[in-house]
Amino acid sequence: MSYKAVQKVRVKVPASTANLGPGFDSLGMALNLYAWIDMAISDQTTIHLIGDQMHGIPTDKTNLIYKVAQMVFQEAGVSHPELDISMYSEIPLTRGLGSSASAIVGALAGANALIGNKLTTYELFQIASRLEKHPDNVGASLFGGIVVAFWDGEKAESIRIEPDPKLEVLVAIPAFQLATEKARGVMPKVVPMKDAVFNLSHSSLLVAALSTGNLGMIRHAMKDALHQPYRAALIPGMKTLLEEAENHGALGVALSGAGPTMLALVDQRSGRKAELEAFLKETLAKEGIDAQTLWLKPSGEGVTTTLLLQSDGDLQSFVEKEVLA
Ligand code: HSE
Repeated sequence: MSYKAVQKVRVKVPASTANLGPGFDSLGMALNLYAWIDMAISDQTTIHLIGDQMHGIPTDKTNLIYKVAQMVFQEAGVSHPELDISMYSEIPLTRGLGSSASAIVGALAGANALIGNKLTTYELFQIASRLEKHPDNVGASLFGGIVVAFWDGEKAESIRIEPDPKLEVLVAIPAFQLATEKARGVMPKVVPMKDAVFNLSHSSLLVAALSTGNLGMIRHAMKDALHQPYRAALIPGMKTLLEEAENHGALGVALSGAGPTMLALVDQRSGRKAELEAFLKETLAKEGIDAQTLWLKPSGEGVTTTLLLQSDGDLQSFVEKEVLA
């Protein structure tokens, strides 16, 4: 089958939070923090990482974005071994805000756009879930909004929910990194039936609350017995935040993905935002943890791609003019 290979694309992909408390490996929400990737078919592979936080990420063909792009070409039956890739990201790395999922989804969408979108979004979702082994972060970055999903080891299915426009998100991002592998390693292999029932009932109720705009129900539904009690040992102050943030103006509070970022859902009309932010920061500070707080919104939009013309500037100048300005 013939297709039109496009020379260069720019990808914008949102960060995400996973689990939202009880929805372990099954609920995700896109957030309005972004990563940008420029990708072009080239004669020689060059990988340009913009910004200090990318330090240490490979710039040869072992780079994740390069490797994921090659998977798309392989799946589509085409060959483009040399790519020119640039990336800039506002998403803090290894903090539970889906930075690796955004890189995977950005690479999938970029490579697919370069070959005239030969693969469907559903096919991209399958590849992304297979790579991440859970569909929550990748689903949110791909589709935007709130995503309810499963991955059964062979296929992933999902439904997207439009986030309530009144939802705001406060995150407290600790200065330390926590590898997902480590945060998964502290969890038991087997859980009691009562904990399984606790989570399926709370997660179902949370999905219903988020779907119907019943923001008052979030405080009851956003409770977890499967992963947070075990992961709390890795994040000093987390237990207090989970127990008390709702008394300081949060609709609900959870560990963001595998952590260490803590996430509170807030009604944007709340008059207690400053109180909540101070509570998060002070609770972590008491444990000696320096944390940056950020007010975010759910990102209704998932990954997007734009075809670039020769006359369009490079990613570095776009970032300087449009993102950092
Ligand atoms: N659902 C995953 C976890 C997200 O909690 O381990 C991490 O990327």
